[in-house]
Amino acid sequence: MGKVIVITGASSGIGEATAKLLAKQGNPVVLAARREQRLQEIVKDIEAAGGQAAYQATDVTDRKQVQALADFTIRKFGKIDVWMNNAGLMPQSTFDQLKVDEWDRMVDVNIKGVLYGIAAALPVMRKQQSGQFINLSSVAGHVVHAGSGVYAGTKFAVRAISDGLRQEEAAAGSHIRVTVISPGAVATELPNTITDPATKKNVDAFYAEDAIAADRIAEAVAYAIAAPEDTSINEILIRPTKQIV
Ligand SMILES: NC(=O)c1ccc[n+]([C@@H]2O[C@H](COP(=O)([O-])OP(=O)(O)OC[C@H]3O[C@@H](n4cnc5c(N)ncnc54)[C@H](OP(=O)(O)O)[C@@H]3O)[C@@H](O)[C@H]2O)c1
Repeated sequence: MGKVIVITGASSGIGEATAKLLAKQGNPVVLAARREQRLQEIVKDIEAAGGQAAYQATDVTDRKQVQALADFTIRKFGKIDVWMNNAGLMPQSTFDQLKVDEWDRMVDVNIKGVLYGIAAALPVMRKQQSGQFINLSSVAGHVVHAGSGVYAGTKFAVRAISDGLRQEEAAAGSHIRVTVISPGAVATELPNTITDPATKKNVDAFYAEDAIAADRIAEAVAYAIAAPEDTSINEILIRPTKQIV
């Protein structure tokens, strides 16, 4: 058996592309997101292509559901080799619009969802004395623009959390690896989470011009997973060639 890989936010975009590529490479994949029908269809596609996959409807803002995803994976495949915290949303707007519900949502999904994933998978990996977290940050985890303060804040947080975890696991000698993937513009459904019309227009225009395919990010994830166990690819920052910042 290949590596057992759990992917949150696997119903579209980067998560879907990564699930399909890793399954094609012979790894059993467990897909999680809220849209169950999408997950069902993707699992069918993977199986039709000869891969092994399962899904569990999961809202990453609910710790119990994230724990249930880990339990389901252990029951189904007996181990968790890789846990990819990928679920995220990007409803960008300026602070003066006070879209506080959207700030809450970004904190809940982009930060707390990642923490719940760590809480669910870390004890399993500690017991195995092996495992890898793949956490999705962003170019926005490195650079802030007007209108992206909260989103960038969540993505800076993912990098901080990831490096804290990496250092602790290195000190503990647990053999657990931590990888941050920080993409620039990737053609996915992500801009659809923007509700401010002016921001949406700008982001859509920028994505139409610059965005690269989600497959590129899937390939970067596959590279980080394939590195020898004594080597930890800590971050991959990956932009469209045309993207300036
Ligand atoms: N596209 C880019 O340009 C870009 C750049 C940098 C970083 N990223 C990061 O890449 C990650 C994947 O995004 P994407 O670009 O592939 O966008 P996407 O196509 O919109 O995918 C987002 C995924 O997250 C899931 N999701 C949202 N809320 C969730 C929740 N509460 N519980 C579980 N799943 C949830 C969605 O599924 P359901 O709606 O079915 O739950 C969907 O599968 C995100 O963390 C994003 O911030 C993307």
